[in-house]
Amino acid sequence: MADRPNPRHLQLSIIIQLLALFFRSSALFSPPDSHLISCGSTSPITLHDRRIFLPDATYLISSNPKISISADANAFLQSNSYASVYQSARIFTAPSSYEFDIRSKGIHIIRLHFYPFSSGSHNLAFARFHVLASGFVLLSNFTASSDSPLKEFMLRVDGEKLVIFFVPVDSSSFAFVNAIEVISAPVDLVEDKARFVQTDQVLSFDGLSKQVMETLFRINVGGPKVTPFNDTLWRTWVPDNEFFHSDSVTKIVSFSGRIMYRKYSASREVAPDSVYNTARIIDVVNSSEVSSRMTWKFPVDHGYKYLIRMHFCDIASLALNELYLNVYINGYLAYENFDMSSATGEVLASPYYVDFVADMGSSDILFVSVGPSGFAGQSRVDGLLNGLEIMKLNNTVGSLDGELPFSLLLHSSRGFFSGVVRSLICWSAFVMLSVVGFMLILRWRAESRNQIAWTALPVDAAGVKIAKGGQFA
Ligand SMILES: *[C@@H]1O[C@H](CO)[C@@H](O)[C@H](O)[C@H]1NC(C)=O
Ligand SMILES: *[C@@H]1O[C@H](CO)[C@@H](O)[C@H](O)[C@H]1NC(C)=O
Ligand SMILES: *[C@@H]1O[C@H](CO)[C@@H](O)[C@H](O)[C@H]1NC(C)=O
Ligand SMILES: *[C@@H]1O[C@H](CO)[C@@H](O)[C@H](O)[C@H]1NC(C)=O
Repeated sequence: MADRPNPRHLQLSIIIQLLALFFRSSALFSPPDSHLISCGSTSPITLHDRRIFLPDATYLISSNPKISISADANAFLQSNSYASVYQSARIFTAPSSYEFDIRSKGIHIIRLHFYPFSSGSHNLAFARFHVLASGFVLLSNFTASSDSPLKEFMLRVDGEKLVIFFVPVDSSSFAFVNAIEVISAPVDLVEDKARFVQTDQVLSFDGLSKQVMETLFRINVGGPKVTPFNDTLWRTWVPDNEFFHSDSVTKIVSFSGRIMYRKYSASREVAPDSVYNTARIIDVVNSSEVSSRMTWKFPVDHGYKYLIRMHFCDIASLALNELYLNVYINGYLAYENFDMSSATGEVLASPYYVDFVADMGSSDILFVSVGPSGFAGQSRVDGLLNGLEIMKLNNTVGSLDGELPFSLLLHSSRGFFSGVVRSLICWSAFVMLSVVGFMLILRWRAESRNQIAWTALPVDAAGVKIAKGGQFA
């Protein structure tokens, strides 16, 4: 009798499970601003991760004819999370923009998708254009590549609208975009301070949240690719194999227990479980020998500063206070004797991240290394890393891509000049000439009235005439 499931209990357990599901999903991050648009499409498109991309027409500001094109279904693309929004594109032959209403000021994640397909008379691989927003240059003289169709930026929005401009480089060129995401970032995603790594010391870098950043690399160290489907902020994390170079004996570890997220520390929005539950570690082979560092190498552009965010979660130690490590950026000591256990409030498997800023100067390769600390005593692990993100910071002219500032690029396009600006210049010239002419007429009339008054004076006021005569006598 006890073995037969009681329908009442069954109902109750279903209700409890539904409630649990409800509370779990309500705990997920829901951004105040979330604009997802599929450019050039006429109906909403749903991705595998269940996000819905709306048609772009209501966001679009363009005086030119609106051109949209669509691609034939591309079998090669099917593995891409965004394949369904890479089937259409909006094309701009003159400067155009999209305008987004911002409900919650602060840092926003902007993802722009440029998948260059060819359709009819348009080959999107030939597009050459600038992308600008909020006084900053995001991309300049840009051509799309199917190897990296996604560009991600973090930008602080202080106004009620965000405008993103697409400007063809000249009148013979054009711009395009497949899809745009504008999402409020969780408040804890960007801290204002970071460790500013110099050759011989580490200073404090302030004002990080005021910079515009472009995400260049987002790595799940020792783990598989994480797609937007499995990330709290719809990010993509790739494995580290391609970037990893090391002489030391490293081992990949994974963890099936619970990741202990803590208040005021890295949250699930900073990086998901799938990043923290895998890591690469330096294995202690012979405790009387010093292990060497493990190093990752990234191709970057010289002349910029970069934010390097390193994600740690001690899923390898068997006890607390065993893991100490050193971090090196471009070979310089960036963090000495980093103590995992005290950083995470004496909790194992609890995530923590450290932000570094490095100035690349004239070098094009960024090196990030983790090595053993002088403290390492009885530990069986000499170093560990779970995740790594590398963001480019804007330069002093407010650009992420070259030395030309926003205002210059916005008005650089010949098409723009021949159109809007030229007519604006003609019109203002006309207005100025009319004003000058009008003022001349007024002055002429005033002068002729004065002359009349002058000649009338002697008749009416003899005293004045005497005074005047006396003065000139
Ligand atoms: C734009 O890129 C093309 C090809 O890479 C190059 O020839 C041209 O000089 C660039 N223009 C500017 C203004 O940087
Ligand atoms: C999401 O993660 C789960 C568990 O790690 C995995 O089995 C699944 O394939 C992932 N899904 C996608 C779409 O990446
Ligand atoms: C560990 O290293 C020391 C010093 O290099 C060496 O003498 C010893 O044989 C090594 N032990 C093992 C187990 O490899
Ligand atoms: C980025 O741009 C802002 C605003 O123009 C500027 O204050 C800041 O110094 C720039 N960042 C760098 C690293 O030059």
